[in-house]
Amino acid sequence: MDKLKDLLKEALYAEYESAYQYLANSVALEGIHGEIISEELVNEYNDETQHAKLIAKRLEVLDEPIGSFEDIVPEHQMLNPPENMTAEPDDVLNVIEGVIEAEESAIELYREIIEEAKKQNDSTTRRLAEELLADEEQHLDEFKSYREHYV
Ligand SMILES: [Fe+2]
Ligand SMILES: [Fe+2]
Repeated sequence: MDKLKDLLKEALYAEYESAYQYLANSVALEGIHGEIISEELVNEYNDETQHAKLIAKRLEVLDEPIGSFEDIVPEHQMLNPPENMTAEPDDVLNVIEGVIEAEESAIELYREIIEEAKKQNDSTTRRLAEELLADEEQHLDEFKSYREHYV
């Protein structure tokens, strides 16, 4: 197996998982305390689905099938919206912490993809991963500043 393609598939699944979880939390958090976070999660949901699309297109060019939905292994259980989410500050803070963790792991993964793409002299994949990395760094920065306001 090709390490770069495997990493790209891992990133594709992670983007889908994040998009789904951000959407789920966004709906669950609609309420007075969670309104801002809820709206921001919808923005990031849009970014992550766009990332998934760009990665899927790159895998297509690399002649790598993207697999089926069953291949997705959830990794960010902390982002599962709790039952009876109240949109109270504690729940909002839990969601913020979950997003921070997901963004940090995305950043780590894109750095790994950049390194592997360099090794394989695949400058197109490297540039794509650099673009996605910049977006994830921005997401992380935004949620870190939200956390400051909630603690
Ligand atoms: Fe993303
Ligand atoms: Fe992100």
